[in-house]
Amino acid sequence: MKRIRSGSALLLAAMLWASAAFAWSFGVCGDSRNDRNGVFPRILAAVSDSDMEFLLHTGDLERPGGTRSWAAFKAKTADFRKPLHVTVGNHEIHGGTREEFARFFGLPAASYGFTHKNVRFIVLDNAEGTLPAPLLAWLERELAAHPKGKNGIDRLVVAMHIPPQTDGIFPHGTKTGYAEQSVHLLKILLKAKVDLVLCSHEHMQMVDDWSGIKVIVSGGAGAPIIPFQKYGFYRIDVTAKGIRETFRPIPKTAPRPGK
Ligand SMILES: [Fe+2]
Repeated sequence: MKRIRSGSALLLAAMLWASAAFAWSFGVCGDSRNDRNGVFPRILAAVSDSDMEFLLHTGDLERPGGTRSWAAFKAKTADFRKPLHVTVGNHEIHGGTREEFARFFGLPAASYGFTHKNVRFIVLDNAEGTLPAPLLAWLERELAAHPKGKNGIDRLVVAMHIPPQTDGIFPHGTKTGYAEQSVHLLKILLKAKVDLVLCSHEHMQMVDDWSGIKVIVSGGAGAPIIPFQKYGFYRIDVTAKGIRETFRPIPKTAPRPGK
């Protein structure tokens, strides 16, 4: 009996170790333009000084202005030693083109994919407030090429600057037909069993359930925040049990690092 008990304890310990070993986390933020309160540098510092493995920025990095603005963003993030994945936002295509943006940040295109550990990320360019059919067809092909449960992929995450239109989110600055395009997007996400959609553009923090798909809007990295909302970012934990988000506020009134 004693041997059975110690065997069970060992098995439990091994299971806990395995689950902890495969758990990892990353940060997500958006809308760091016009950052008058030094929020974005404190987000970079918080991710740097943590076990979060990278930062995903969901767009509107800087004021409009093309290469000059992107260079300012690069200068601000020069000391950040972890990977920083960027998304093209509507501000990025004012004063610059999406092709220039992709070239500047060394991306294959403004819409692109990358794999980190057991998660496939797909970053979509919807900076113009549309989800055109060719973009959604590309997304469908990307998801088909990296299906869940194959080649080490356990989770699927889609990032895009402008949130989809859901029952609870009505993004501004979208073009006619965005509601129907969002439904088309939802069908694709459901078919591939996508776990999470990450976006910003609305200067607020919000978690929505979109027919079973979690949508996180994190638009508080420095741009003027809407009333009763907080600056900050989300920590996303990827565990054997699923994906869990934790909002990390960055108080506007806190002292800046080194001051
Ligand atoms: Fe935006």
